[in-house]
Amino acid sequence: MTDSVGQNEIERVRTALRSARSVFVLTGAGISAESGVPTFRGGGGAPVWRGMPFEELSSAEMVVRDLPLVWEWFDYRLGIVGDCAPNPGHLALAEIQQSGRFEEFTLVTQNIDGLHAQAGSTEPIELHGNIQQARCPSCGLILKLDQVAGDDRPPVCPDCAARMRPNVVLFGENLPVDAIMTAQDRAAGCDVCLVVGTSALVYPAAALPGIAKNADAFLVEINPEQTALTPICDVSIRGKSGDILPLIFG
Ligand code: OAD
Repeated sequence: MTDSVGQNEIERVRTALRSARSVFVLTGAGISAESGVPTFRGGGGAPVWRGMPFEELSSAEMVVRDLPLVWEWFDYRLGIVGDCAPNPGHLALAEIQQSGRFEEFTLVTQNIDGLHAQAGSTEPIELHGNIQQARCPSCGLILKLDQVAGDDRPPVCPDCAARMRPNVVLFGENLPVDAIMTAQDRAAGCDVCLVVGTSALVYPAAALPGIAKNADAFLVEINPEQTALTPICDVSIRGKSGDILPLIFG
């Protein structure tokens, strides 16, 4: 799991955390890899369905062209996620937040799988939405899928009768303004920033660690592979988040 170099790096992170007031964590698909959720890049088996690449299926254009197909695709992905449970990485983050050890603890995720909340994290900022929710593009109502009446796809909005869509951010769409602005504020005010299981290639999420670094935060990456962020990190730990996070916070 971790060699002596890894142990030394873990100790450096634990030391930085000892004097931290505000901790900011950005997670990506890699944190859910050990739960069985496929990643997008980095050898995790990028999702392709019915011969179509992810970027085409999960696009703003496809919502306009074929909303029922978009629902089929997300229901298929929900089927995969529905069989997955939080792993020790998710649980370590939830436990440290609940412990109240840090004055401020912000968890921002690019994942739509809902596993952070399932692990017990309080109000994770879900930058890319949540696969377990439907949203009305007309009146903005957001419902959990189990609150949607019937199995019809697309579901019909109970308030305004428009066709609802998955509450996820698609290619060609902007992130929810509140979510990204809060994330940027917290990144700018943190003492330690942990970047876990993301290739850091998709913006604006990928800019958050740089915001933290520019504000003099101690920047830590946890990833089995190098990423675009590695050169600016104070510590890069090569390992799986399910192994490393419990060691950092334990
Ligand atoms: P990626 O698939 O791009 O990157 C996953 C990262 O996790 C890679 O750097 C892997 O090396 C790393 N990884 C794999 N297993 C790991 C483990 N056990 N522990 C820690 N790290 C591990 O996923 P994201 O960076 O999250 O957006 O992708 C960002 C966005 O791209 C997604 O949110 C999605 C996609 O387009 C939308 O759908 C809008």
